[in-house]
Amino acid sequence: METKYWLVDKDVDSLATYPQIKEAAALLRENQVVAFPTETVYGLGANATSEEASSKIFAAKGRPADNPLIVHIADREQLDDLTASIPEQAERLMEAFWPGPLTIIFMKKDQALARQVTAGLETVAVRMPDHPVALAVISEAGLPIAAPSANRSGKPSPTSAKHVQADLDGLIAGIVDGGETGVGLESTVIDCTGKIPVILRPGGVTKEELEQVVGEVGLDPALKDELEKPKSPGMKYQHYAPDAPMYLVEGSREWIQELIHQQRKLGKKVGLLTTEEQMSFYQADVILPCGSESKLETVARSLYEVLRAFNESDVDMILSETFPYEGVGSAIMNRLEKAAGHRWLRE
Ligand code: TXA
Ligand code: MG
Repeated sequence: METKYWLVDKDVDSLATYPQIKEAAALLRENQVVAFPTETVYGLGANATSEEASSKIFAAKGRPADNPLIVHIADREQLDDLTASIPEQAERLMEAFWPGPLTIIFMKKDQALARQVTAGLETVAVRMPDHPVALAVISEAGLPIAAPSANRSGKPSPTSAKHVQADLDGLIAGIVDGGETGVGLESTVIDCTGKIPVILRPGGVTKEELEQVVGEVGLDPALKDELEKPKSPGMKYQHYAPDAPMYLVEGSREWIQELIHQQRKLGKKVGLLTTEEQMSFYQADVILPCGSESKLETVARSLYEVLRAFNESDVDMILSETFPYEGVGSAIMNRLEKAAGHRWLRE
């Protein structure tokens, strides 16, 4: 299949009238699969009401069929067609964070969506992205749009159209290039079907921010204990893994440098994921700075680009610095732990 490519300037007015957006939306209405930017990562969109369209997402990504998709909407009214009920806490969260990087799990309305989109669950995940291109494409299509991250399953999520092309060129109908995404990590997934809201996946909105709006917020036990079964089916899969094995390192600079040294003496090419502040203190074969340790949002924004960049080097192993489990640091560490398959080296 030839993949169409449209470049758009996300900052122009009345984006929805542009031919690139109209063409992309028309393909979505024809049950084709089209990638577009959101504020978190690029999404791979398809008509969420069509079995035919949504099955193309699973095929292009190589995604396991038991992993449900997030349904993206452009205005609040679309939600009423998808959900059986809207709890009070969800109302408050939508008011505070939509459009934005928060996905809310609701009880679903029967028959509203293709079965595959919810992987047969009684619930549905919905989000309204805060990106002018995503909103224009969805509203012009006039449909709820199922969209996982636009990477091949298991790979780091794409934060630029170039990443989408590297993974999916020839496998999907089109890519709308609206530049680099902002947040860089996926949305926070919060389950609002129980008494207190529970975070199933940490992401762009932090636990601290959520608690300011709805009070107590729980964490899926699987986020702390890798032996627990996660409530979000997608969280059980290995993700974001670069080609070379990765290890999280925790210790003094001297200890980390000595570790690198020993591995190099064994003939290994060693990559180091560190920060702008720390990079000059180390010697390794490939050193990639991932944002600034004093601004964790910059680490979030660069993380997937850096993980992909290691694949372009020929390192035999990647050592990664770690970050505090606070604010957006929780989401960064969740992704790094998955990328490293939970392998730690500690002083
Ligand atoms: O930022 C994002 O959320 C991006 C952009 C494109 O919007 N999308 C994204 O989708 O990250 P994906 O498919 O890569 O991750 C969706 C996660 C998976 O872990 C999936 O299992 C979970 O949401 N999920 C979807 N529906 C669910 C449901 N009904 N109950 C529990 N978890 C659900
Ligand atoms: Mg994904």
